[in-house]
Amino acid sequence: MNLTDLYDFEKEARNSMQREHWTYVSAGAHDDQTLKRNESALQDLSIYPRFLSDVTNRNLSTTVLGQEISFPVATAASGPWYYAHPDAEVAVAKATERSGTISMQPTNAGTFSFAEVAASTNSPLWLQLYHSDDEITEYLVTTAADHGCKAICLTIDIPISGSPDPRLRSTGLLLPKLLQDGNLRERPDLVDKYSKEGLRTLTWDRLEWLKSLTGLPLVLKGIRTVDDSIRAVDHGVDGILVSTHGGRYLDGSPSAIEILPKVYEAVGSQIEVYMDSGIRRGTDVLKALALGAQAVFIGRPVFWGLAVGGENGVFSVLEILRRELDIAMAFCGINRVPEIDGKILSWE
Ligand SMILES: Cc1cc2nc3c(=O)[nH]c(=O)nc-3n(C[C@H](O)[C@H](O)[C@H](O)COP(=O)(O)O)c2cc1C
Repeated sequence: MNLTDLYDFEKEARNSMQREHWTYVSAGAHDDQTLKRNESALQDLSIYPRFLSDVTNRNLSTTVLGQEISFPVATAASGPWYYAHPDAEVAVAKATERSGTISMQPTNAGTFSFAEVAASTNSPLWLQLYHSDDEITEYLVTTAADHGCKAICLTIDIPISGSPDPRLRSTGLLLPKLLQDGNLRERPDLVDKYSKEGLRTLTWDRLEWLKSLTGLPLVLKGIRTVDDSIRAVDHGVDGILVSTHGGRYLDGSPSAIEILPKVYEAVGSQIEVYMDSGIRRGTDVLKALALGAQAVFIGRPVFWGLAVGGENGVFSVLEILRRELDIAMAFCGINRVPEIDGKILSWE
């Protein structure tokens, strides 16, 4: 089996995953407008290569919130990684450790707790947080902090519970059960406190409370507008992850790559900006970095890697992106990640 790019992994994963699980992972919301636009808008951007520079000594390393990573790609959190492989969260973190990058671990893990993942690898880990109840959040973030978590990444782009599309309502995917089997395994007493109404109770004015629980950097995942970006800075947030949640909620919002340069222009001089949604190629990584992203995250490709080969599959997916980015940088006359800028790109 010779899988040379992420689309090969996607095809292979589609063949090996249960049909219902595949549908849940690959679907967007409603008409898939944002899902498709995430990829097509990236493809609409043209790269203008520059030649006759010495590019023999390329270095893809960079930093994220002061943490050195070997290249600017990390894995985004997703709930049911076990749909693709039983080693789920641990497999992903072992792969990111080998690739020298960050693994964002999910609240709705369903298989392993953050503490168990931390005990299995030396990968830098972030905790992706879904808020449902103050006591649960306090337990999740302080436990993560005790186990070496580098940042709390609060997902803000699901203000009410319930999936917008029947394809996203996978049978058996009950959120309290995912907590019970994963991050709350040591604290079953807290599972009863889970409330789907809780999503609504974490508002701008309470971010200070969230930050005060650990003192860890706080990243907001899912910002789509300049206004919310400025608000985030005003509320002391440390980073913004521009994301459309992979086009899975609110169909019709622009793609992440269209939003990114606006957010970067508004707040990029004050805090780090990252992007996910639609990254499938090293050239996509290059484009996002050229428009201001400090690093990018991948969502569905993690499932594809897991389905094909567990830890090794995710590692291969990351290494393919590294290789493709390296080549793209060479063709643009770029040796180092901070040299990537908007001059190499055009929407025409
Ligand atoms: C099946 C699936 C489950 C997801 N679960 C979560 C989650 O639990 N928390 C979260 O913040 N984002 C979740 N996401 C969104 C990803 O973190 C990420 O933002 C998105 O997948 C990036 O887009 P991409 O799939 O095009 O790379 C999920 C995405 C998928 C496909």
